[in-house]
Amino acid sequence: MKVSVIGTGYVGLVSGTCLAEVGNDVLCLDLDHKKIDILRQGGIPIYEPGLEDMVKRNVAAGRLRFTTDIEESVAHGTIQFIAVGTPPDEDGSADLQYVVAAARNIGKHMQDYKVIVDKSTVPVGTADRVRAALLEELAGRGAKIDFSMVSNPEFLKEGAAVEDFMRPDRIVIGTDDERATQLMRSLYAPFQRNHERLIVMDIKSAELTKYAANAMLATRISFMNELANLAELLGADIEHVRHGIGSDPRIGYQFLYPGCGYGGSCFPKDVQALQRTATEHGFDLKVLNAVETANDAQKFVLLQKIDKHFGPDLSGKRFALWGLAFKPNTDDMREAPSRVVIEGLWQRGATVTAYDPVAMHETSRIYGDDPRLKMADSPMAALEGADALIIVTEWKVFRSPDFAAIKSHLKQPVIFDGRNLYEPEVVRAAGLEYFAIGRK
Ligand SMILES: NC(=O)c1ccc[n+]([C@@H]2O[C@H](COP(=O)([O-])OP(=O)(O)OC[C@H]3O[C@@H](n4cnc5c(N)ncnc54)[C@H](O)[C@@H]3O)[C@@H](O)[C@H]2O)c1
Repeated sequence: MKVSVIGTGYVGLVSGTCLAEVGNDVLCLDLDHKKIDILRQGGIPIYEPGLEDMVKRNVAAGRLRFTTDIEESVAHGTIQFIAVGTPPDEDGSADLQYVVAAARNIGKHMQDYKVIVDKSTVPVGTADRVRAALLEELAGRGAKIDFSMVSNPEFLKEGAAVEDFMRPDRIVIGTDDERATQLMRSLYAPFQRNHERLIVMDIKSAELTKYAANAMLATRISFMNELANLAELLGADIEHVRHGIGSDPRIGYQFLYPGCGYGGSCFPKDVQALQRTATEHGFDLKVLNAVETANDAQKFVLLQKIDKHFGPDLSGKRFALWGLAFKPNTDDMREAPSRVVIEGLWQRGATVTAYDPVAMHETSRIYGDDPRLKMADSPMAALEGADALIIVTEWKVFRSPDFAAIKSHLKQPVIFDGRNLYEPEVVRAAGLEYFAIGRK
């Protein structure tokens, strides 16, 4: 099938590449010339395991191309995926300007039947806005051309995006249009060969499903974070509690890890956008309001532990930071808890030496060459002469370190672990002080 993908970011690039991988003819559009130049020169603008090889393979086979030419992109695909960003507006609602602009561009240039598939995470009712914008553009040029609207929210996880797209748990299709349903069924057939994963529903339910999924996951995290904080006060160990409840099949083990808060490009903004949607309808999402408040506070938990240990004035101190990305296997720094920690340490007069396997470049882009933040070549190099180690992202490379070496590199043998990577007694036996989240 001929597919155009509008927006070549994390979602657009992965979706377009995976659709090409199964034989479709895919053209990815982005208005960011730099991004498209990198891709055309054989590079890749984001870090995502397995993606680079797949992009190269499909470009070489002629099934995957990149463009900044809107007309070319509209003409190419019968299926037009909208995968542009939906960042939070000032009031927390999803900013739909990019989605609407993409729709208008299709309306301005389309010459034949198109299926408009919204893959961006958008509030309930957005498909109606997209349809209206498109109809307005068509009317503006006196054109009467048929099109179908589909909501197809994306559930891929950064860091495992290729795997998630190639082997999805489910594919949600929201539409009331039989022709579009059939096309989507054919498009996704190669991704669900052993059993049907397509869940077809009305558009509004599909739009809400994406927010419901992220809101539920964020709720589990905030719930565990609050229990971890309580466990510390009670002298209980949250790791035992996690095992104790995760073994209940009604609860399960997933997303029960306490830590220093969730971040990323999705949970924070999607929780806010859903709250905003509810408010607009005069409804108060009490649970979700608490989820957000709890998470905002949790991002400061490590700083509070540091304050307690060192006192609030950290002038002249330097901290080693392991992990910058909001989670492992990505270079995404959007809403990353590490940013709260870095900026909090700066406010207290300290400096930071950080190591992250892939996000150091992105961090330097954000903070420029601020002399209060240095990047190290290796985890151990970050420790050299530092007053303490702070762990913010649970990269595998941090999981089994040489504690004796950590102790010998640090000026003071202290670890603040925002991801509960180690057994407290093991770390303490190595002569290090260890502060984790909700652990005894
Ligand atoms: N990142 C994730 O893990 C993830 C997962 C599921 C869903 N989503 C949702 O998918 C959407 C995209 O997220 P992302 O992380 O890929 O965003 P992103 O910021 O990485 O990419 C968006 C891209 O769209 C481009 N763009 C904006 N307006 C455009 C236009 N009119 N025409 C062409 N290109 C345009 C931007 O230049 C950018 O490259 C969001 O709604 C997000 O909530 C993201």
